[in-house]
Amino acid sequence: MELVLKSASEETTLALGSSLGSAASPGDVICLIGELGTGKTVIVRGMARARGHSGPVTSPTFTIINEYVDAGLCHVDAYRLDTGEQLIGAGIDDYLDGEWVCAVEWADRVRPALPSNALSIEIAFGEAENERVITIREEGGWDGRLARIMKELMSE
Ligand SMILES: Nc1ncnc2c1ncn2[C@@H]1O[C@H](COP(=O)(O)OP(=O)(O)OP(=O)(O)O)[C@@H](O)[C@H]1O
Ligand SMILES: [Mg+2]
Repeated sequence: MELVLKSASEETTLALGSSLGSAASPGDVICLIGELGTGKTVIVRGMARARGHSGPVTSPTFTIINEYVDAGLCHVDAYRLDTGEQLIGAGIDDYLDGEWVCAVEWADRVRPALPSNALSIEIAFGEAENERVITIREEGGWDGRLARIMKELMSE
């Protein structure tokens, strides 16, 4: 299943992140793909808040992997990595044990280190300044949940 939506503001993207965070279960991996500044971290921030994390959420560009224990959420930024091997070297397997939800920025750079049935979210700049085009693709296990998320977002 593939869904394409437009977000006209950071708040809308944040709300999508919150819905994803509420719908996610331990063991889920969410791949975030898109240029610098498209809003990958905004999605993860929404996810973290919805899962009960109250502290800051910023891209772990230098530490690569950050954990928000209070949210059961692992936040990866693979911007500085070139291969899946490097993400394995950074310790990703500890978070792929079914106990964590993992959100991975720049997942396309390290894709072989991640499970094949991840949810993929691609964000592109739209025509207007704050517009983003968000393409969501699921590769197993998300079908029903995505339909619920869309209903939730449309009723807001
Ligand atoms: N519709 C929108 N959705 C998300 N962010 C938006 C939107 N419109 C404007 N923005 C702005 O775009 C920026 C997105 O920043 P963010 O850090 O989330 O990007 P990123 O994709 O994580 O970048 P990086 O690759 O550097 O980590 C924020 O400054 C946010 O306010
Ligand atoms: Mg980021």
